Amino acid sequence: MTQSPGQGQALDNLLTESRTFPPSDDFAAQANAKPDLYEEAKADREAFWAKQAERLHWDTKWTQVLDWSDAPFAKWFVGGKLNVAYNCVDRHVESGHGEQVAIHWEGEPGDSRAITYAELQREVSKAANALTSLGIGAEDRVAIYMPMVPEAIFAMLACARLGAMHSVVFGGFSAEALRTRIEDSECKLVITTDGQYRRGNPAPLKPSVDEAVAGAPSVEKVLVVKRTNTEVAWTDKDVWWHELVDSQSDQHTPEAFDSEHPLFILYTSGTTGKPKGILHTSGGYLTQASYTHYNVFDLKSDTDVYWCTADIGWVTGHSYIVYGPLSNRVTQVVYEGTPNTPHEGRHWEIVQKYGVSIYYTAPTLIRTFMKWGADIPAKYDLSSLRVLGSVGEPINPEAWIWYRENVGGGQAPIVDTWWQTETGAIMISPLPGVVSTKPGSAQRPLPGIGAKVVNDEGVEVPHGGGGYLVLDEPWPSMLRGIWGDEERYKDTYWSRFAEQGFYFAGDGAKYDDDGDIWLLGRVDDVMNVSGHRISTTEVESALVSHPTVAEAAVVGASDATTGQGIVAFVILRGGAGDEAGGAEAIKALRDHVAKEIGPIAKPRQIMVVPELPKTRSGKIMRRLLRDVAENRAVGDVTTLADSSVMDLISAGLQSGKSED
Ligand code: WT7
Repeated sequence: MTQSPGQGQALDNLLTESRTFPPSDDFAAQANAKPDLYEEAKADREAFWAKQAERLHWDTKWTQVLDWSDAPFAKWFVGGKLNVAYNCVDRHVESGHGEQVAIHWEGEPGDSRAITYAELQREVSKAANALTSLGIGAEDRVAIYMPMVPEAIFAMLACARLGAMHSVVFGGFSAEALRTRIEDSECKLVITTDGQYRRGNPAPLKPSVDEAVAGAPSVEKVLVVKRTNTEVAWTDKDVWWHELVDSQSDQHTPEAFDSEHPLFILYTSGTTGKPKGILHTSGGYLTQASYTHYNVFDLKSDTDVYWCTADIGWVTGHSYIVYGPLSNRVTQVVYEGTPNTPHEGRHWEIVQKYGVSIYYTAPTLIRTFMKWGADIPAKYDLSSLRVLGSVGEPINPEAWIWYRENVGGGQAPIVDTWWQTETGAIMISPLPGVVSTKPGSAQRPLPGIGAKVVNDEGVEVPHGGGGYLVLDEPWPSMLRGIWGDEERYKDTYWSRFAEQGFYFAGDGAKYDDDGDIWLLGRVDDVMNVSGHRISTTEVESALVSHPTVAEAAVVGASDATTGQGIVAFVILRGGAGDEAGGAEAIKALRDHVAKEIGPIAKPRQIMVVPELPKTRSGKIMRRLLRDVAENRAVGDVTTLADSSVMDLISAGLQSGKSED
């Protein structure tokens, strides 16, 4: 390998893993995807995708499958017209499935609601009419900052129905994070709730919106769903959902939009600190979300009960709660709360209650379940589960095996699905009825997808070799750019292997001897905490925005529960005073980061240091800090501007007083 992608121990671990689990004959026989899917895609890729697009209802059929002439800006299903919300809701009612439950919603306090497709159609229509009355039309941007309540899904679909773009901002983000995202895409409307349940207690949410909106002049109205009955301050921009939406007509005629009409923006962290607004469009996105959901999870619309545990604030919630599943006429569980409220068996209680058959979650949660103990899932009837999924970061083999044994009854195939906010939908994953799964490997590009592991020169590495993961063919659900920043789009994803025309995913990966792909984590400095990508620069900027901090460097250090934990090294400002390095001051710094970016970015540990290791050009060498953070001997320091710096840092740490 030309460069270590970090997390070396993951590589060691994976190298010794040789177990494989073929699908049972019964599973293989009934599977949606059969081996010929690979052959078919290989024979004619564009014809294959054209066939997948037929899964959807098009008001006007496309004239060209792919236009790549303006690469890296793709156009898929050129000339086609469709309405995304119609595809996810109305057509199922029209085909006679209005009484099928679309969403079994389970609130954190134990309230629940079953929403049929007919009801979903009425709710989305009412919301669309309400948005129209607020002046929202095609291509306007709407920020959605909500907990996992049904209205969040109605709101997304109402936007899609009107051709307006939603920008969902995770409800755990701070007012400042919300403000910068609203500002970047000039949202006209914010949809939120009065409060949200957090581990059994109502917590206010609207005050963050008030703070954000005060500094975001583009916002004309704020639509507020009453969820917790928390008292909230009211401004003249505010409108209650129950007053406006509930009084609307439940009839609404959807308009067909161009296949390349924008559908949503979703912000993701970037290395320069400013979040990137990833742009997705309609026809190609929905085609791939639908195709992957059907084949990877083996969805049977009439019998399965599906549950994806993600939040709609992340792309997983967009593609595998809203667009993929609903386009496939799913019956799904949507859960509002945390997995240990009111007890650590909550997920398994829900699986048992609804007879969940497909369960899709993240490795960080699986490791948490492991920590809580196998006796907890053992108390519940989980025999309905037949397919398990994993997403967000590499899953370590022990966690994979634990998941299979204790959740999947030693039977259910596990699909380890690799993809990104940018790819829009799953790219690499086993097909559960075809591929013999391996604990810790995402294995193969799906039929129709091109992915490779290459070296620095863009040359594919041999089996057994490691390098960079690239995507060597355009795909229908690919991002169409970064909002307002064409150059950044080209630079970030297409400049590294410009000569070859590869999309650079930023992940390290290797092939095993069979040619299966194993992901090795990010090659850049973006940290992955509980499956969430957080840029070092954003956390550093937040730290430096505190009056006592002069400079900061943060690294992700392996963490048994969250994948990586954030470890920060800070240099205090002269005159900050002795108390600035004390335990209380460190706590204040951690809280400050939580306020600036959100609790997810709160450093696990903050160390006060006299200097930071830098190259001569002034770049911080995070590799060395990672060694310190993970208690390893510090590696090669020859490119350091001042090689004594690492001694200074180590000396400071040994005194013990600089740790949190
Ligand atoms: C990054 C994308 C995809 C939705 C959730 C995260 C990592 C994702 C896997 C996997 C190893 C994975 C990669 C990727 N990642 N899935 N199955 N195995 N790594 O979306 O926030 O855009 O993060 O998450 O590093 O690049 P995201």
